[in-house]
Amino acid sequence: MKALILSGGMGTRLRPFTYSMPKQLVPVANKPILVHCLENVRAIGVEEVAVVVGDRADEVRAVVGDGSAFGLDVTYLQQEAPLGLAHCVSIAEEFLGDEDFVMYLGDNILAEGIAESARAFRDERSAARLLLTKVADPRAYGVAETDATGRVHALVEKPERPRSDLAVIGVYFFTAAVHDAVRAIEPSARGELEITDAIQYLVERGDRVVADEYTGYWKDTGSPDDLLDCNRVLLGRLHPGVHGEVDAASTVEGTVVVEAGAVVERSRLVGPLVVGAGSVVRGSELGPYTALGRDCVLEDAGIRDSIVLDGVSIQGVRGLSGSLIGRSAAVRTGEAAGRRLIIGDHTQAEVAA
Ligand code: TTP
Repeated sequence: MKALILSGGMGTRLRPFTYSMPKQLVPVANKPILVHCLENVRAIGVEEVAVVVGDRADEVRAVVGDGSAFGLDVTYLQQEAPLGLAHCVSIAEEFLGDEDFVMYLGDNILAEGIAESARAFRDERSAARLLLTKVADPRAYGVAETDATGRVHALVEKPERPRSDLAVIGVYFFTAAVHDAVRAIEPSARGELEITDAIQYLVERGDRVVADEYTGYWKDTGSPDDLLDCNRVLLGRLHPGVHGEVDAASTVEGTVVVEAGAVVERSRLVGPLVVGAGSVVRGSELGPYTALGRDCVLEDAGIRDSIVLDGVSIQGVRGLSGSLIGRSAAVRTGEAAGRRLIIGDHTQAEVAA
């Protein structure tokens, strides 16, 4: 089996981060979302992977390289524009050949991995195997109608009156039969080649399409709140370990990871929490549910329930929570009499009234 991982797209909902990095590289629990995907694919025994990339291809290449760091052999496929998930399959046709494959959206987190569905797909080799999860409002998703055996009878994109609360999530298993379907469909009203249409084509042709309910933690990391939610869950699963230096005047509670080369002085660390390599934390309160990237400097700071990217400095500011702070940003008290903000396009700042 091969894998096709989608790491193109626009990521408009994650601006301003996606002005300078593809959304799939935003870290959750100090690891890019895309790396969580690669690890899940490797865990089912796949070695050959194609990663679909768009405008931000260079950044993806810089992180994933030839894949050897993850035990994978990675090929890149350039997509000229985000023309749809089924378009990604069409540009991968030569790479995939006749092989079965798993298609994995590079912004989806499936915290329990995908081993069970992979096993079932390998045993049964139905034309398509989908993963479904119960959602509160199915009208925002693709919804699958299945019978008691898990066979899919219809797929409806964003139904007004959903007949099920099981939404299709971003991991799909296919045999080469999907290529016929992708060739047969036309772009949708929004101008994209939709994977839902390709799957519906298979269903209507009488091919076997089945679905499993994914009962583990799943998130499509489209927005900052989604990222923070994922961060909380994945931080809770880290193996604690202090590999950097924590002085005797500091306290450590709960699941805390201090990476090698980090220095913590006179601070309170409350897990789940990770302090990235090379970061310096002095006189601060960190956590719970906080991922601090590499080479950050925190002095007299307080932050919880947040994601802080590499190279950030926070000085003299406490009470931060639910925050996402981009690379090399500085947050500090200053000389301005009021509140002074120098922040980029589409940034969101919330301050107490
Ligand atoms: P979307 O969630 O549609 O991603 P987006 O980047 O367009 O997000 P936004 O709505 O914030 O603008 O796509 C799901 C995943 O598939 C995501 O990882 C991007 C990737 N993708 C491609 O690689 N090529 C495509 O043509 C599309 C539509 C998505």
